Amino acid sequence: MQTFKAISFNDRNTKRSKVVSIAFTLKEQPLYNIVERLTSQEIRTLIGIDSYNQLCNKAHEDRRNLSQFIKVLLEKALANAESIIPMSDVTFKNSKSIPFQRWYPYIEGYSPDFVKSIITQHLHRNCIIYEPFAGTGTTLFAADSLGYNTYYSEINPLLQLLITTKIQVLKMPIADRQELHDHVQSTLPKLFSFDVIGDKELDDSYKKVFKNSVYFTDANYSKILKAKTFLNTVKDSSVKNLLLVAVLSSLIPSSLLKKQGDLRFKTKAEQAKGIPDFAEVLLRNINNICDDLKAPIGEVMQQDHICIIENAKKIKEVNCNKIGCVITSPPYLNGTNYIRNTKLELWFLGYLKSDKDLRHFRDEILTSGINDVKLSTVPNFDIKQASALYTVTLDALQANAYDLRIPHMAKCYFSEMYMFFEGLKDKLEDGSDIFIDIGDSIFNNVHIKTDIILQEIAEFMGYELVETKKLRERRSRNGQIISQKLIHLRYNYISVPLKWDELNN
Ligand SMILES: C[S@@+](CC[C@H](N)C(=O)[O-])C[C@H]1O[C@@H](n2cnc3c(N)ncnc32)[C@H](O)[C@@H]1O
Repeated sequence: MQTFKAISFNDRNTKRSKVVSIAFTLKEQPLYNIVERLTSQEIRTLIGIDSYNQLCNKAHEDRRNLSQFIKVLLEKALANAESIIPMSDVTFKNSKSIPFQRWYPYIEGYSPDFVKSIITQHLHRNCIIYEPFAGTGTTLFAADSLGYNTYYSEINPLLQLLITTKIQVLKMPIADRQELHDHVQSTLPKLFSFDVIGDKELDDSYKKVFKNSVYFTDANYSKILKAKTFLNTVKDSSVKNLLLVAVLSSLIPSSLLKKQGDLRFKTKAEQAKGIPDFAEVLLRNINNICDDLKAPIGEVMQQDHICIIENAKKIKEVNCNKIGCVITSPPYLNGTNYIRNTKLELWFLGYLKSDKDLRHFRDEILTSGINDVKLSTVPNFDIKQASALYTVTLDALQANAYDLRIPHMAKCYFSEMYMFFEGLKDKLEDGSDIFIDIGDSIFNNVHIKTDIILQEIAEFMGYELVETKKLRERRSRNGQIISQKLIHLRYNYISVPLKWDELNN
């Protein structure tokens, strides 16, 4: 049996890409298993050849055909590489098709394989893993499959619901899932008849929160209000939560908005393609969920996953067992607008009843977007002593700022991360490993090297830097190249300097 991998190269002559197909024999399957998940670009970078012409010349010099030549280069490159993390593992790309992970598409997430590779490479002992910025819960699910209990924090009620619903289902024996599947199916005729009166409270809160903004067609809006009325009547909490998750993941796709990075209105051209019918999107989402419930094989979650506190900034207040490892991807500075992007779902869930409620969430969340910033907020700590790079960066931001909120956002972000690192310290076991997936950003030509600043802050507080690994390159909004890195820190009791008091005097 043979397997194949297609790789595209740029052809200088035709200026088009040329695809080379590589064949792997049965003996070469281990190589194929690694290469299979890499993109063409990742493979070209790995073998150090970008153009088709260069590839042909070098293969010719080596007296091998293209397929053989690429495999030789790949074997050499992989023998030298410490570890290969495919780009699809550090983004949500992979998760879109993974059962259970696909219930709510969350582009801000990373994939379970990425987390599993961190655990298998670095964590050779049993301990509790803490995920302070849990999102859709990727870390929890990956850790469970390798036998680890977790603690987590997540501030957004939408994501909390998603995590608890998935845990509730995944802990069920397979036979019970089948029963739940039948139960969900039995509610569908009533749900899809839309023969109830739309939920009045939800309608009122829309007007209070969103004022005159129109996010849905009249037809879809009416069905959404009716779906809420129906959900209020469902008694079984497992069925209700599953239907709720399906409704929540149908809101944006059937709205006049689109999530592309952040949430924005669809352009006229996008609207002209037609706004999907809410009922059709909902049915598709319910079918996905039902297919996953019905799957005859699957893992039953064995471990415990506990939300120790919703807000990771308040980790100091928690009384819990010692944590041996942290694996997380905190919000990036000027990254996604976490609350604004989920405003439709938060509204449907009843968390937004007036515009003050949005402010409440923006205050709770780690300050990372310009909309989270309130100039009257005083950052918790002045952390200039903790990081020289922070001080230089902040000066540059202040000198360049066209909007005062930008330097203030950076001040709050790093001060809150400081507070998180500080609160975390006495929850950790001696020798704990901390893995942080983080990206840098550029504002008005000032490069904010978030990874290095966080590393300096952590080192100031007594954490030790084990290594920093580059995961991939990204592009900032102005097209400059920035990156995504994995910082590995360790916390040893013995090496902790007493700088906390110094900073607070
Ligand atoms: C980059 S996402 C994490 C995605 C996650 N790794 C996944 O695969 O789904 C960051 C998450 O941090 C959450 N968050 C922001 N501020 C928080 C806070 N103060 N406490 C807890 N969670 C917070 C956001 O709601 C968001 O879900």
